[in-house]
Amino acid sequence: MPFYRAVGEIPRKRHTQFRRPDGALYSEELMGVEGFSSDSALLYHHGLPTAIVDSAEWEPPGPITEAVANRPLKPRHFMTHKLDGSGLDAVTGRHLLLGNGDVRLSYVAATETSPLYRNAIGDECVYVESGSGVVETSFGALEVGQGDYVILPTSTIHRWVPSPSASEPLRLFVIEATGHIGPPKRYLSAKGQFLESSPYCERDLRSPSEPLSAQGEDVEVFVRHRAGGTKLTYAHHPFDVVGWDGCLYPYAFNIADFEPLTGRVHQPPPVHQTFEGPNFVICSFVPRKVDYHPLSIPVPYNHHNVDSDEVLFYTGGNYEARRGSGIGQGSISLHPSGLTHGPQPGAAERSIGAEFFDELAVMVDTFRPLEIGEGGVACEDPAYAWTWSGRHGG
Ligand SMILES: [Fe+2]
Repeated sequence: MPFYRAVGEIPRKRHTQFRRPDGALYSEELMGVEGFSSDSALLYHHGLPTAIVDSAEWEPPGPITEAVANRPLKPRHFMTHKLDGSGLDAVTGRHLLLGNGDVRLSYVAATETSPLYRNAIGDECVYVESGSGVVETSFGALEVGQGDYVILPTSTIHRWVPSPSASEPLRLFVIEATGHIGPPKRYLSAKGQFLESSPYCERDLRSPSEPLSAQGEDVEVFVRHRAGGTKLTYAHHPFDVVGWDGCLYPYAFNIADFEPLTGRVHQPPPVHQTFEGPNFVICSFVPRKVDYHPLSIPVPYNHHNVDSDEVLFYTGGNYEARRGSGIGQGSISLHPSGLTHGPQPGAAERSIGAEFFDELAVMVDTFRPLEIGEGGVACEDPAYAWTWSGRHGG
């Protein structure tokens, strides 16, 4: 994140002696991205963060090598709630829906506490469809709930703890990058402050306010890394941090705090952009006043996303442009490059005169083609491709 924070106890100067109550030194851990040439955080551990006592193989869920190409080419509809199961956690229970060499999109309805987890390949942006819980991290805890985007920087050790009192599972749409995810650069000043023209700003972001200072020995951490998966056992609990500072830390942003930009005629998707990552963008379609030119057509025009595959996760409200397509809560559509797509038949005429759209959706546009993972294959609605023509019984 662009702005500096200090949490818990830290010494006045970095890299100087800072002692525990028993007189021993606290152990520094500097997490710095881009080879110490960009943002970093400096954490102070009670024990050595380097001390491992075991390393074992672990097979992470949804290997991309088992994904299949979108061939023959079709628009796709995935009904994620069909992936519900019992006893799933937010890390090992993920189902890969779509992925490529840049980004993986997974879904899980979690009811159990996850193992401690580190994704050493890239940042994760996890969207909470419903339910509530806590994300515990070495920086502290973040309470999360419906509509939150949770950004977890690369290699942040964390675990997901669903609320035991929640009436529904913690439904998560997981976006795993192969680099860093953050606000679009055009929303930021040269020094990193959100501009007045940005649809959100620092006040909308939540991050841990105190360290967890956890104690424990021989603690397992599941690690996704460039060579595969490994289960490491650490001699000391990775959450034994007493303080940290810097500009690199996990944070949450609720989609309800995204202030939509509207216009007299239909606005293109970039006005909804929320985050960017390497070779993909994330956009938020939120309830909003719609186009107010006297002759406007509020639903989108048919479009051909020439250089991207477009994924839309329908997460609330009524999605007017898709009425009659089978799309509902928890649906994900894929409109790939190579096809023109647009509203369902009749939607353009029906939308005329509308003043407000009560829709909530998260869009991911990827700049390389997406393949379909085991989760996508398992929950696909085969009739979707034909819903514009009304043929094939769709
Ligand atoms: Fe589209």
